[in-house]
Amino acid sequence: MSVKQKPVKVLFVCLGNICRSPTAHGVFQGLVEQASLTTCITVDSAGTGDWHIGHPPDRRMTTSAKERGYNLSSLRARQVSVADFYEFDLILAMDNSNLSDLLAMQPSDGKASLALFLDYADAAVEEVPDPYYGGPEGFEDVLDLVEDGSRGLLAALQSTTAG
Ligand code: 4NP
Repeated sequence: MSVKQKPVKVLFVCLGNICRSPTAHGVFQGLVEQASLTTCITVDSAGTGDWHIGHPPDRRMTTSAKERGYNLSSLRARQVSVADFYEFDLILAMDNSNLSDLLAMQPSDGKASLALFLDYADAAVEEVPDPYYGGPEGFEDVLDLVEDGSRGLLAALQSTTAG
């Protein structure tokens, strides 16, 4: 990947921006740093809803993430905006409901490509399930799927921007 190129800007989106998308933000950012690609790929996350604007990630999520070595504590929730479609190259939704909300607000001249995050994963599931109202296993499931999708996304970006 050439450092002279403009960075590829990736935005992860879920409903609240306190469980799934901040996890993707932290996990994928870690992979980008390990690969020394921080000048080539920038990462952010947002929610379609406004209930948690300014809040840190859910404590259950930060605790499960910390056990795997990911520190999400500095992240704060924000709501996705129309400006994001002009700012980001790739907007990745955690589930089909997030994707349809994004499609409904997408401006016709926006530059961002929209997809489901797990399009990049090996796992044969489409969506990262919302863990908010479930038990602790839901947060482990989020981490498993996010790690899978993040590996695939990094490989895809490395192959499309190589050289
Ligand atoms: P997230 O999870 O979309 O993965 O951040 C949720 C967080 C909060 C709510 C729903 C889902 N909520 O209803 O407040």
